[in-house]
Amino acid sequence: MTVAQRREELIGVLREMETDHACPLAESRNKLVFGAGNADADLMFVGEAPGANEDQQGLPFVGRAGKLLDELLVSVGIERLKDAFTTNVLNCRPPGNRDPLPNEIEICKPFLFRKIELIEPKVVVTLGNFATKLLSGSQTGITKVHGVPQTHTLGHRTVTLFPSFHPSAGLRTPAVAEQMREDFKALPGLLG
Ligand code: URA
Repeated sequence: MTVAQRREELIGVLREMETDHACPLAESRNKLVFGAGNADADLMFVGEAPGANEDQQGLPFVGRAGKLLDELLVSVGIERLKDAFTTNVLNCRPPGNRDPLPNEIEICKPFLFRKIELIEPKVVVTLGNFATKLLSGSQTGITKVHGVPQTHTLGHRTVTLFPSFHPSAGLRTPAVAEQMREDFKALPGLLG
């Protein structure tokens, strides 16, 4: 598939998500947060779910967690919007920022896999437990698996999965932000 065809199909996925109301969160959301950045990048970030700022703007990681993420990435020479595509396990905000529910994750999962297939990343960085457990297929927590690359076939695509912490945890605990900074040092090498 050419770059233009993949772009076209990705827009098709967005249109489908805008009209698909299978998930109850579609009713309570302000804006769908599909994802943002460079859809031809080799790097993809997968967070948990939009928060209040993201729900208002329709863009992922635009609040304080996103600021921290950007700052940590710049320290390893990565500009998120230019060098990566960023999305989440859920594309709509859970009320009050509660944890995603299993049925919400199941409903949204095929959309995430289609995005991965159409963006064709080499490296997928999972931020926090929800994205890591979903894409690794393992229930092992982020504290044990962060910073160590794994190889997985997601949809039709074999990728390097690279788990790290969720930046909101980094905001709460500076030692976690430091661990993320350490983890991210591996990214330029993984991207080759
Ligand atoms: N937290 C997430 O997991 N995703 C966002 O887009 C914002 C905050």
